[in-house]
Amino acid sequence: MRRKITVFTGAGVSADSGIQTFRDAGGLWENFRIEEVATPEAFAENPKKVLDFYNRRFEQLKEVEPNAAHHAIAELEKHFEVVVITQNVDNLHERAGSSRIIHLHGELSKCRSTYNPGKLYPMPPQGLKPGDLAPDGGQLRPHIVWFGELVPAMDEAAEAMLGSDYLMIVGTSLQVYPAAGLAYMADPSCRILLVDPAEAPSDLINRLKHYQYKAAIGVPKCVEDLLEGRLHG
Ligand code: APR
Repeated sequence: MRRKITVFTGAGVSADSGIQTFRDAGGLWENFRIEEVATPEAFAENPKKVLDFYNRRFEQLKEVEPNAAHHAIAELEKHFEVVVITQNVDNLHERAGSSRIIHLHGELSKCRSTYNPGKLYPMPPQGLKPGDLAPDGGQLRPHIVWFGELVPAMDEAAEAMLGSDYLMIVGTSLQVYPAAGLAYMADPSCRILLVDPAEAPSDLINRLKHYQYKAAIGVPKCVEDLLEGRLHG
């Protein structure tokens, strides 16, 4: 019976690939106001500004590669049952080879009609502009969960975590709910492993093992400890 690992990632896992995080120095929210680019109201008010913001982030996917952290996480699948639950909207876990990924906040590479959140289309290579309509006549929008919108994958994520022997948390400030709540849903018997250069959250510090490194260094270290049997669940 293979042991089970849930890997819960945030922007920090992609930082070493050159994708900005949100709340670190120089982060995305230092240059853009959430209210102007990442809410349904912003999209209604100024669709072109919002679409251009996501077009630029989608465009950046062509210039970045998965880093050693994404690859080490994919490697785990050879020895463990793995589910990756990510807050990230990039496609680097997919490109590194992880096969079971739940995107809590959507995906830059997909879009949908404003009339039907359930039907997804690939993002056109040139991105979206006002007037680009879905077959149902609705304006196409990024398949991204904006602030104030529901996180439809939360139940699936909480369900997927059940029975995990390990919860590896990589590169998230745990500031945004309900996603951050997953860090507190681990069964009492589940061993929590944290990879983040910042200090561990005070309310979790006593029950986790902290790899206080950048993800590209810390995740391979953590995975090696797991594969060498140095971290008994
Ligand atoms: N390696 C690992 N972790 C890193 C690195 C790195 N190289 N650089 C920064 N970090 C850590 C930071 O210490 C912090 O804990 O990554 C985390 C980044 O936090 P945020 O920028 O808040 O990103 P995240 O937690 O993913 O944000 C959650 O907020 O804006 C919304 O929808 C957006 O999904 C995002 C959500």
